[in-house]
Amino acid sequence: MEAVDLGAKVLCERYQTTVQIETKGLANFVTEADLSSEKIIVQTIRNRYPEHAIISEESHSDRADAQDLWIIDPLDGTSNFMHGIPHFAVSVGYYRNGQPELGIVCNPIRDDWYIAVRGQGAWHNGVRQQVSVADRIDATMITCGFYYDRGSMMQATLDTIGDFFRSNIHGMRRFGAAALDLCNVGCGHYGLFFEYKLHPWDFAAGQLFLSEAGGKATDCDGLSLPLHQSTSICATNSLLHQQALQIISPHWNGWKATMLAKMGSGKS
Ligand code: IPD
Ligand code: CA
Ligand code: CA
Repeated sequence: MEAVDLGAKVLCERYQTTVQIETKGLANFVTEADLSSEKIIVQTIRNRYPEHAIISEESHSDRADAQDLWIIDPLDGTSNFMHGIPHFAVSVGYYRNGQPELGIVCNPIRDDWYIAVRGQGAWHNGVRQQVSVADRIDATMITCGFYYDRGSMMQATLDTIGDFFRSNIHGMRRFGAAALDLCNVGCGHYGLFFEYKLHPWDFAAGQLFLSEAGGKATDCDGLSLPLHQSTSICATNSLLHQQALQIISPHWNGWKATMLAKMGSGKS
């Protein structure tokens, strides 16, 4: 919490000021705030646990199979931060032998703290959280994310959203910070969240919060989420998991088939 708090303070100090921005790829940015937040979080953890491994979005890529591993997103929702939208977070997860033990996600602007310890529940600002009881797609609100892709992955996401609407969801919200999306499924606001490409730092803390709240997160093939590479994600209140995968599958499998065909033909 100390490390997250220090990172959060860095973000608050720089929010709505002019920060230096660099482009990592199409519509994918890194600001001076991401880097400064990461620096202080890593320093704080390193001071206390010098032997532990660290994976962090901007600078550290230790082995994902380390016995003690911290996975850090120093600013989840950089685009929101850059545009003055007060919906972003610091996310820190601690894994022991590949198993999540601790997850903390903090929205510093709202002073919202989402904390989960394995076996001890999911807590939002000191109040225990539980996923929603919706067991039908037509009784739920959903959320999703778009990776930075502006091609076939974006189209597959849009097509999937269309099918969710055709299944009569109550609505779809896209807030732009995956760590908070996962926590909000844990808090019961959404029945599910999906995205076709996320990195371990996006979900490391949020997936523990969700499972401690009674939910479930897998990739879009229904398999557990890997810590060593990017992945797709389907995160639900558990009750909706199979129904969600059924709607997602044709689009996800279609996108994978297109990619394989392109690789076969030598096109990127
Ligand atoms: C992004 C956010 C966004 C999601 C992207 C992520 P970043 O994280 O979580 O909601 O759609 O896929 O990369 O880049 O702001 O840390
Ligand atoms: Ca992120
Ligand atoms: Ca980030």
